[in-house]
Amino acid sequence: MLIDIIAGARPNFVKIAPIIKALKARTADGGPLRYRLVHTGQHYDAKMSGDFFEQLEIPLPDVNLEVGSGTQAEQTGSIMSKYEALLLQQPCNLCLVVGDVTSTMACAITAQKLHIPVAHVEAGIRSGDWTMPEEINRLLTDAITNWFFTTTDEASRNLRQSGIAEDRIFMVGNTMIDSLLANQHRLRVPDFWEKLQLKQNNYFVVTLHRPANVDKLASFSEWVDAIVEGTRGMPVIFPVHPRTAKTLQALHDFPPSIKLVDPQPYLEFNYLVKHALGVITDSGGVTEETTVMGVPCLTLRDTIERPETVTVGTNELIGTDPAKLKPALDRLFAGQWKKGAIPEKWDGHTAERIVAQLEVLLGERTDTSKKV
Ligand code: UD1
Repeated sequence: MLIDIIAGARPNFVKIAPIIKALKARTADGGPLRYRLVHTGQHYDAKMSGDFFEQLEIPLPDVNLEVGSGTQAEQTGSIMSKYEALLLQQPCNLCLVVGDVTSTMACAITAQKLHIPVAHVEAGIRSGDWTMPEEINRLLTDAITNWFFTTTDEASRNLRQSGIAEDRIFMVGNTMIDSLLANQHRLRVPDFWEKLQLKQNNYFVVTLHRPANVDKLASFSEWVDAIVEGTRGMPVIFPVHPRTAKTLQALHDFPPSIKLVDPQPYLEFNYLVKHALGVITDSGGVTEETTVMGVPCLTLRDTIERPETVTVGTNELIGTDPAKLKPALDRLFAGQWKKGAIPEKWDGHTAERIVAQLEVLLGERTDTSKKV
């Protein structure tokens, strides 16, 4: 049985690494499943892709579709036609997609149209915000998925409410957290640590790349002002995503406390997060990592598809009004931030549960009940 594992953009690499590791461990034990790693090429820079493969010890892709940049429709179309050509020549038995990026949706649709079943890891999460391309990707992917692996009971509930039968939903936990826990002891001090004279709990980390926050110069510049004011002159390390870099070129005068750096490799980025006083972000995955590391997180969005990071973890939704940031940071400086806890099954063993379940679903294991 051959499983295609699809990866296209930065957060995908973090989610597939433990699944591949678990599959390989089972193969070494005589397990029946084989995989083919398909990189769509949505992210292609060393800093957005290659570094992650190296640090997370992901094997080189078996296939690279090399789609590169483009509009949402261009990327989707290009991934679909190239993946279809691959499947027509060399079909697989299951297409496994992770997360919510364009590659996730495009490959799921392509496989299902060729009658190849689809498994979706991180299924069922919903922000309700249709202006985010990721929400459209989630809705479309889950509409044609056969087997749903979810990170929380709430995500499973969302799927049940949309009419998905219980026996197709598996709450297994979070593979992004598998990666984090597996690499905690390997985190690396970034090379600018000394130069910027950083000290533990004495700086902030900022990541911003959502189109709504960074594509328009005026709103981006308001956020920068609010961040500088709220962080009281502490160093603010800002790894700049390529999308954000385009807007940044038009902003010349940066206050000295803002330290712009390249997108960081996985081990350096999480070292920075782990030792920060707080993280200010519009990313989804980062809110999960801060929850597990117990670091205060302020999310600059109105909605969130990962509510457990707020109800259980250390995350707070600040919204999209820059005036709301300072009062929240004041509470953090006053030592009044919540401590948070870790959501159920975010224990580092999610990928093993997924692989065991896939063996049952693909009929390669008959010695267990339907749900493992
Ligand atoms: C994508 C995902 C988003 C994820 C993010 C993480 C979708 C819809 N969005 O957004 O969910 O959180 O990745 O990074 O799939 N670029 C480079 N080098 C690269 C990759 C991209 O310069 O290696 C440039 C592209 O040319 C483009 C911009 O960055 O102009 C945005 O890339 P794109 O893949 O469209 O989406 P992201 O904003 O990265």
